[in-house]
Amino acid sequence: MLRVGVLVSGGGTNLQAILDAIDKGTVTNARVEAVISNNANAFALERAKKHGIAAECVSPRDFPDREAFHEALLSRVDSYHLDLLVLAGFLVKIPEAMIAGYRGRIINIHPSLIPSFCGVGYYGLKVHEAALARGVKVTGATVHFVDEGMDSGPIILQKAVEVKAGDTPEILQRRVMEEAEWKILPQAIHMIANNLLQE
Ligand code: GRF
Repeated sequence: MLRVGVLVSGGGTNLQAILDAIDKGTVTNARVEAVISNNANAFALERAKKHGIAAECVSPRDFPDREAFHEALLSRVDSYHLDLLVLAGFLVKIPEAMIAGYRGRIINIHPSLIPSFCGVGYYGLKVHEAALARGVKVTGATVHFVDEGMDSGPIILQKAVEVKAGDTPEILQRRVMEEAEWKILPQAIHMIANNLLQE
């Protein structure tokens, strides 16, 4: 059974997709052991608590400096003895010590087809604003392993989504979440939990 930790910062719709997929049985051999957020108000924490999952906040505001925050975050993550860390809308850059400690065991969902519209400054609605500004006809989402870079690790899964006339960033974000993110993130966890990843 793969012990999964999910790191979140916001509404938690990707977390919910994971929990629902496990409940439905489309993701097997995996269990979410903990949900950790940098944001005490993240609704994702409510979703975890409602599901009976350990949910906690480790906020940079509670520490004198970034290093102390990073140490506390890593210490809390380590305390759950996890096999896989899933970044689901987590807006904090992962400290190098965590990447080193969980190398090859951290995945992230990014709301574009990497290498487009990714890297520093590309998160949340900004990704979709950039896609619309560029005039792409197709966008989508990517699940990738996390390395020291920003959205730069090996790609695991991608799913394309059509950009439609009249799309606003909000409409496009919702379509990318519904048609891509909420499908490929659980699918990636299922593949890892069942050793289905092609080397
Ligand atoms: C959304 O912008 C999503 O596209 C990205 O993270 C943000 C929050 O998602 N992956 P969630 O609802 O908190 O999962």
